[in-house]
Amino acid sequence: MTKPVYFDFAAATPTDERVIEVMIKCLRLGGCFANPHAKDHVYGWEAAEAVEKAREQVASLVGASPLEITFTSGATESNNLAIFGLAYGLKEKGDKRKHIITSKIEHKAILEACELLEKEGFKVTYLDPTKEGVITCDSVEKAITEDTFLVSIAQANSVLGAISDIHEIASMCHKHNVIFHSDVAQSVGYLKMDYDNSDIDMVSLTCEKVCGPKGVGALYVKKSSALPLKAQIYGGGQEKGLRGGTVATHEVAGMGEAFAILQKEAKSDKARFEKLRARLLDGIKEVPGLIVNGSKTDNLPNILSISFEGVDGHMLLPTLSGIAASTGSACSSANLKPSYILKAVGLSDNTARASIRLSFGRFTTEEEIETAILEITSKVPALVEAGSMWNVKND
Ligand SMILES: Cc1ncc(COP(=O)(O)O)c(C=O)c1O
Repeated sequence: MTKPVYFDFAAATPTDERVIEVMIKCLRLGGCFANPHAKDHVYGWEAAEAVEKAREQVASLVGASPLEITFTSGATESNNLAIFGLAYGLKEKGDKRKHIITSKIEHKAILEACELLEKEGFKVTYLDPTKEGVITCDSVEKAITEDTFLVSIAQANSVLGAISDIHEIASMCHKHNVIFHSDVAQSVGYLKMDYDNSDIDMVSLTCEKVCGPKGVGALYVKKSSALPLKAQIYGGGQEKGLRGGTVATHEVAGMGEAFAILQKEAKSDKARFEKLRARLLDGIKEVPGLIVNGSKTDNLPNILSISFEGVDGHMLLPTLSGIAASTGSACSSANLKPSYILKAVGLSDNTARASIRLSFGRFTTEEEIETAILEITSKVPALVEAGSMWNVKND
């Protein structure tokens, strides 16, 4: 069976062979396989060296000091550590503030953490995005009260690719003495970072979107912000007491290498993505019912979210069998629950269901883009026609 062409890089990427090579060296006898916290022998020292090299590589990409990087199991855990760690840490210090500001289009790791805190008496404002999926600095500022201690806004939305200006938002937050956190899972490497020269206090990082392995991430915590973060995983006191558990040397070394490659290649990768996205858009522009979601001016070049008015969403991906993309919708038995992100930017349930996210990356070829164009242009018109026969409404 020929597999469909992979267009789901925003969910996970294939790991770069150069990264795999580094990771394997950390697993084998003869490599740095030992426990990096073992202080009594050379094997442990070598593993610790590999971990610290990775920390430097991560810090170097994002413009931080290695001391400001805490390894975690991914952006989900980093988000949890940032939100719960700060809420509980400040509370322990006697800080009485209870208000958090985030947005309706954040990743579930942020939203569910905030919802849990609400059950404990914290208050959360979930901001509406613009129709393009951007969170404006103005909307954040208007929501700040005396009670606000944290603002958490992602740099780029995972479904739309729309970019919010986190540097501007962070500077505004600082004026109000509010801590700023951002989840940059989708944007790391491609947009402005330089965290130590910014007002951004905490950043959640992962490398699975940039040809690194899954199951590893990091939290950047600005040293000069002196945040009283409370650990969320205990035992062993690793990662300066912020995250217990043996550091997975091969994973963090893989993340370090993925970020080092990104530091060298992001610029050329990004230029290529821009061309691929422009070609893809041009190739499908005549398809009936096409709506391009996200921002026209500030969008990640490797994410394209599109909807087809009048199409039955249940039929869309099964019909586009030559491409492996994502709907962003959650399936529950026969019911296709529309993406909360597409709903938040104003799409109707039907249009949100009739949407796909095509995301690509370092290994996507021009031929694969042509395959996607052919797939969409040859199959969607029939779906639109069928939709009009069945009277699919987009109200
Ligand atoms: C914006 C965003 N945050 C967090 C995550 C979760 O990252 P991880 O798989 O590293 O926990 C993702 C992954 O899809 C994401 O897109």
